[in-house]
Amino acid sequence: MTSRRCCWRRSIAELGLLGALLCCAAAAAQTPRAAQAVSIPVPLGLPPLPYPAHNPPTAAKIELGRKLFFDRRLSFNGTMSCAMCHVPAQGFTSNALRTPVGNEGASVRRNAPTLLNVAYHPRLFHDGRDGALETQVWGPLLAPDEMANPSIGYVLDRLRGLPDYAGRFEVAFAGRGASADTVGESLASFERTLLSGDSRFDRYRYAGDPDALNAAEKLGYAVFTGKGRCSACHLIGERSALFSDFRYHDTGLGWLRSQAPPQVEVELAPGVSAPMNAATLRSIGAPPRSDLGRFEITRDPADRWAYKTPMLRDVARTAPYMHDGSLPTLEAVVEFYDRGGGGAPEQSPLIAPLGLSAAERAALVAFLRALDGRNPSGDRSSAP
Ligand code: HEC
Ligand code: HEC
Repeated sequence: MTSRRCCWRRSIAELGLLGALLCCAAAAAQTPRAAQAVSIPVPLGLPPLPYPAHNPPTAAKIELGRKLFFDRRLSFNGTMSCAMCHVPAQGFTSNALRTPVGNEGASVRRNAPTLLNVAYHPRLFHDGRDGALETQVWGPLLAPDEMANPSIGYVLDRLRGLPDYAGRFEVAFAGRGASADTVGESLASFERTLLSGDSRFDRYRYAGDPDALNAAEKLGYAVFTGKGRCSACHLIGERSALFSDFRYHDTGLGWLRSQAPPQVEVELAPGVSAPMNAATLRSIGAPPRSDLGRFEITRDPADRWAYKTPMLRDVARTAPYMHDGSLPTLEAVVEFYDRGGGGAPEQSPLIAPLGLSAAERAALVAFLRALDGRNPSGDRSSAP
């Protein structure tokens, strides 16, 4: 297929300006509908959708990405898909487990973040170690405790051998077959459609509907932006809100967890836990895996136990909370902040005891629940 740009370059020399214009129009007319860039509608309260210039979303890429996202054959033993840790019905996270279970029952070190509105994250993972959805996908595909594939080539060979993928990449990528790039570009295009906004908060704040929030939620909003200092990190803009500064902060939680308690709660099965002596636990199992957050990437001591500020949209649907999933409910999160976080000597100065009343704590939780959003332009979250 002639791309617009190469048509323009060739024809200007050969045909002059008018010829080039006609040639471009012809090339555009030949482009199949599925391969044309589509504009993804953005719900109320979200900013314009960013995407890299080299990977504009098209219907064919999005559908291929959706197929890949739900395909268990993408894991080494054929049992795990992306959707099994990022479960659509659970706000694209895993509600049952603090940290999800991957290949052969291996427990993953961190909590699965939601993929709703993930398109807006300038950097990915709790420690920000990847800068693009296009490349991020190879993290889970290759991690031994997640999808456990031995190499990129292994995944590509498998895809090339599956009859239901025959020709799919070529159609979506103008002749390019399955490659490290095209697998990433299609999954990224699908993930960019996972938008959620138009919550009751958005209707109150950005559509001027004074009745969209009730009295308790309005009080919670005032605590969020005032006494609670929440919006110092979970930002709310004039025209849209992503509830994150996309920076890394130490809330004291990582430090708190590193102070081995004499008794630890051991999760025996989803939702079933029992107290066990920490020394006994160490003697029978592998030691808990250390997690130093952003420090692991920058090696800057100031980044120890710092994690990326999560967006709070749809937060009522994405329990359990924090990088290690250690806080089970929104009430527990609010109590954690009210106490002044984990109390680490070097934690963020913005995290300090708040002295909230019971009514203010309840109002804050009510406000967080009012951030539950939707995507009125159509639910694209279902399996193919
Ligand atoms: C075994 C469970 C598991 C599977 C399978 C899995 N993920 Fe994840 N995902 C996680 C966890 C846990 C994290 C956080 C890891 C970290 O921050 O170190 C994560 C993080 C992410 C992020 C970063 C989100 C953010 O807010 O920064 C994206 C995007 C993502 N996964 C997409 C995918 C895609 C696409 C697939 C399939 C190719 C996939 N995941 C498969 C568990 C999983
Ligand atoms: C200093 C910046 C900062 C301030 C102030 C702050 N947060 Fe956070 N918030 C974070 C970071 C960073 C995390 C992620 C911590 C982690 O993963 O361990 C987080 C996590 C959360 C989560 C869990 C989200 C999830 O998906 O796991 C909720 C809910 C939350 N904050 C609400 C609040 C509320 C309510 C306030 C005000 C009382 C507040 N935050 C104040 C930075 C901040």
